[in-house]
Amino acid sequence: MSNPTGYQVTSYGDMITCEPRMSAYAEALREAITSGCSVIDIGAGSGIFSLLACKYGAGSVVAIEPDDSVEVLRASAATNAYDDRITVFQGVSTDYLGPPADVIVSDIRGCLPLFEHHIATIVDARSRLLAPGGRMIPARDRLQAALVHDPDFYRPNIEPWLDNAFGLDLSDGHRFAVNQWRKASFTPIDLMSAPQELL
Ligand SMILES: C[S@@+](CC[C@H](N)C(=O)[O-])C[C@H]1O[C@@H](n2cnc3c(N)ncnc32)[C@H](O)[C@@H]1O
Repeated sequence: MSNPTGYQVTSYGDMITCEPRMSAYAEALREAITSGCSVIDIGAGSGIFSLLACKYGAGSVVAIEPDDSVEVLRASAATNAYDDRITVFQGVSTDYLGPPADVIVSDIRGCLPLFEHHIATIVDARSRLLAPGGRMIPARDRLQAALVHDPDFYRPNIEPWLDNAFGLDLSDGHRFAVNQWRKASFTPIDLMSAPQELL
C-alpha cells in the first residue's frame, strides 16, 4: 500500500484515539444524521466518520480520500456490513462531481484551520456539495493565538541558523525557520499572554 499523502495506517489509528477530537466528531455526527440521509466524508482516511455515519443511520455515504488508506476503508465497510451504503471516491473533493449531500463531515485542517488547501476545499464543498439546509461538520473553527515561552521548542528556529559550531553563516535559513508552522502541545503555564481570537 503506498501513502501518497504521507499518512500511515498507524497515523489514522492515532486519529481514531485522539481525544477530545474523536468524541466531539462522533457526537456531532450522531446529532446531525437523520435516518436515511446522505453524507459526504471529505478526507475519509481509514473511514471512521463514514462508518459512524452508517452506524447512526445514514442511507448513503460518499467517502472521498486520495490516500490508499481507502483499501482499509473498503474492507472495514464490508466487515461492518456497510458496504452497500458506502461509496469510495479515491481523489480530492474538488474533483468529485456527484450530487450534494445532507451532511458533509471533514477534518482536513492539519495543525491549523488555515492549513494548505483547507479553506478553499471547504468553500468548494459548501457551495457545490451541500444540499439546501444541509449541515457541515465542523460548522466553524475558532482560531486563537497566544505568546508562549518554550526555549527547547523554539531552539530549531534559531539553531543552526544564527548559531552553529562550524563557523558558517547560515542566516539565510533563519527567515524560513521562523516563518513556518509546527505542531506542539503546551500547558497553560507556558502561556505568556491570554489567548486572543484571531480574525
Ligand atoms: C486528518 S486526516 C482525517 C482522516 C479521518 N477523517 C479521521 O478523522 O480519522 C485528513 C485526511 O484528509 C485527506 N485529504 C486532505 N485534503 C483532501 C481533499 N481535498 N479531499 C479529500 N481528502 C483530503 C488526507 O489524505 C487525509 O487522509
